Amino acid sequence: MVNFSNIKGFTFDLDGIITNTAKFHEQAWHETAREVGTVWTDQLATDLKGISRMDSLEMILKAGNHENNYSQEEKIILADKKNKKYQNLIKQLTPTDILPGIHQLLDDLKDAGYLMSIASASKNAPTILDRLNIGDYFKGIVDPASLHAGKPSPEIFIRAGHILGFEPQEIIGLEDASAGVESIKGAGQTALGIGLATKKANPDLYFDNTDEVGLAEIKRRMI
Ligand code: BG6
Ligand code: MG
Repeated sequence: MVNFSNIKGFTFDLDGIITNTAKFHEQAWHETAREVGTVWTDQLATDLKGISRMDSLEMILKAGNHENNYSQEEKIILADKKNKKYQNLIKQLTPTDILPGIHQLLDDLKDAGYLMSIASASKNAPTILDRLNIGDYFKGIVDPASLHAGKPSPEIFIRAGHILGFEPQEIIGLEDASAGVESIKGAGQTALGIGLATKKANPDLYFDNTDEVGLAEIKRRMI
């Protein structure tokens, strides 16, 4: 693992790291699964974390062997319907929905001069950052619509690193999804995984919960 003294910036996943929108994605996809007749399991819920909207729908259809039963137009209608449900759920978000410890971490990183960017697969990320009133902490957000491949491809974290203008070994990426940790590692950054779902991908640093992740603790573990 690189020494903390090399670190200059941080790339953040959003859903499940900064705020618990992961539960709203799960709720909305669960309804889609019911509609298409796929049995919802904890494993499926875990595997969907970090995965783009259309790739998530494909996984849900595949899990129930329904992948050939829908035309592309019908898939787009299903994905749009899920997104409308999700957008309704996130209307209730306020700054109090930032996960424990994260606001402190953002303040500490900003005060210490680290740069931060967002590597979220979600096209709703700008709206969520606005609702949480934390957009100004970040130098930029990767536009997921511009990607060739979603997580676990490294592309999104590579692009988030380019926003910062630093080398991969100068960056720590934060993720709550196994696909996201894979993406960070593929980009050559230090992977900080939060929550059990990341364990499968072997993050460089692991924390059970967001409230355990502080600048001092990250430093301590990387020396
Ligand atoms: C990721 C979530 O951040 O964004 C996934 O972890 C979600 O669950 C993906 O499917 C895409 O989000 P959206 O808002 O563009 O449908
Ligand atoms: Mg996430």
